[in-house]
Amino acid sequence: MVLNRNVDNFFQETEQVALAPSNLIAGIEPSEDRLLQGRLFSYADTQMYRIGANAGSLPINQPRAAVNNGNQDGLLNPGRTQGMVNYEPSRLQPRSSTESARYSQLTLSDTTQQQSIAREQNFKQAGDLYRAFSKNEQRDLVNSFGQSLSVADDQSKHIILSFLYKADAEYGSRVAKIAKGDLTRVKALAADLQD
Ligand code: HEM
Repeated sequence: MVLNRNVDNFFQETEQVALAPSNLIAGIEPSEDRLLQGRLFSYADTQMYRIGANAGSLPINQPRAAVNNGNQDGLLNPGRTQGMVNYEPSRLQPRSSTESARYSQLTLSDTTQQQSIAREQNFKQAGDLYRAFSKNEQRDLVNSFGQSLSVADDQSKHIILSFLYKADAEYGSRVAKIAKGDLTRVKALAADLQD
């Protein structure tokens, strides 16, 4: 894939594009990473709804090889499908597969888990991002966040302001001013937070 030009038609080539981590060429396969594993079905599933069952047949999405995904019917189907088999494996219409493109096999052991990561650093990362912004970006963020927070209930407002203050004292103070928060209260709440 060579990225060397901008699109000619935004709708056809950007709005209708369907990029999915599950569309892989032979020789490249996903790792066991759980974030990626979730994405393998999530994108294709969303595109089935967003663009439809025939998304893969649009010029921007068409593979070099003919689309052979077993999707059935759907709006604007350009195919010339014979038969009704939309499942696999099938004795009636076997779908060929390429043996050399099969995923490699890996023996796994250990245990599954559901727990938060050991070191989150939620405040440090938010502070780094604020400090990386230009003066104008900081001003826009402070104004927008402050105005939205100004209508929140009193307790929620101060909890959120303490998060911002913990991320960056200047950031928290500036948003507190616009949101009409009590800075002494914000500082006291922030002092109890752990990164
Ligand atoms: C490393 C983590 C991830 C990266 C780098 C990533 C990246 C992206 C990008 C670049 C887009 C396209 C945005 C656009 O169209 O402007 C996207 C869309 C999307 N992402 Fe992710 N994502 C990640 C994690 C996830 C996870 C964990 C899920 C769900 C399990 C997910 C589900 C989706 C869905 C459903 C879309 C819309 C697909 C479509 O309609 O075409 N993503 N993601």
